[in-house]
Amino acid sequence: MTASSTLLAVEGVRKLFPLGRGGVLDRLRGRRVPLLHAVDGVDFRIGAGESVGLVGESGCGKSTLVRLITRTLDPTEGAIRFDGEDLARIPARQFASAPQRPGIQMVFQDPTDSLNPRHTSRDAIAEPLRRLAGLSGRALAERVEEAAAQVQLPEALLGRYPHQLSGGQKARVGIARAIALRPRLLVLDEPTAALDVSVQAVILHLLADLKTRLGMSYLFVSHDLDVVRLLCDRVLVMYLGRIVEEGPAGELFALPRHPYTRALLSAIPGQAGAGAQRIRLEGDPVSPVDPDPKRCRFLGRCPEGEAACASASPVLLECGPGHRAACLRLPPPGGAG
Ligand SMILES: Nc1ncnc2c1ncn2[C@@H]1O[C@H](COP(=O)(O)OP(=O)(O)O)[C@@H](O)[C@H]1O
Ligand SMILES: [Mg+2]
Repeated sequence: MTASSTLLAVEGVRKLFPLGRGGVLDRLRGRRVPLLHAVDGVDFRIGAGESVGLVGESGCGKSTLVRLITRTLDPTEGAIRFDGEDLARIPARQFASAPQRPGIQMVFQDPTDSLNPRHTSRDAIAEPLRRLAGLSGRALAERVEEAAAQVQLPEALLGRYPHQLSGGQKARVGIARAIALRPRLLVLDEPTAALDVSVQAVILHLLADLKTRLGMSYLFVSHDLDVVRLLCDRVLVMYLGRIVEEGPAGELFALPRHPYTRALLSAIPGQAGAGAQRIRLEGDPVSPVDPDPKRCRFLGRCPEGEAACASASPVLLECGPGHRAACLRLPPPGGAG
């Protein structure tokens, strides 16, 4: 961890989804309900002003983790401390009116889905300011214009409806709406995935610029490591509900320690640290439903797996300054290599 103070601390967080018809009835009948381990014991911190990337393939639990942090979903276990206070104690349905709510804002994947088609850009940006900060009149108008200027959205577009805007303009409205409340933590779940490639780069540079100018912390979710490299100080690699590697972006990209991270990196053209060879993962991912707790979840797809991996589930261990990985094959901490 850097010298900066901790803004968000996620501690031992799990989210298990009961599967099958009416979980309650099954439980009353004493029937064992299968559990989908979407997020399965996750710990990490985000410092004030720090930008942290969360990467991993589709279905590994990124959005569930985001929904737990933004408190639209209740965790099964664990603490989510924001500025020292455990938000997990506030039920999700009460969080919308909690005093901590304005401090955490979210930018969604698809700006078309997240904007109300009957609201102008001005209304969209004003809505959280009105509802959560109680602003109105001149003060409200000024804050809307300030947020629009910060995302370089021309004032002339404030009167337009979503269908009258381009994808990039809608993305700017979504970002303006999120930063208007001057949050301390901005959570971005694949914010550019729905945009054309040319527009993606422009929006990513806007986000990089906002981060330095406004001093916010970012939790930036993406399945694209290249995007994370541009924006993030630190990277978390998630696999089947768990963080399997965490480290400073520069070091993690140059010296990936977990075989899964190496495979992800090898898919990026021109990536140095992973070597020239593309690592293709064979086999199918383990099911997230009732996974075997005594077995590494990556075994079966791991190019480096060995017999021991079938009888021990690896935990995150220090493998460099601020760098941790969960793999049995890592040399012990402090060892050479
Ligand atoms: N409400 C839910 N009920 C049951 N399973 C869910 C629910 N939401 C997500 N999941 C499951 O949790 C796992 C993680 O999903 P998600 O967090 O959306 O992953 P990602 O964002 O990394 O693609 C998936 O297996 C998904 O099917
Ligand atoms: Mg997702």
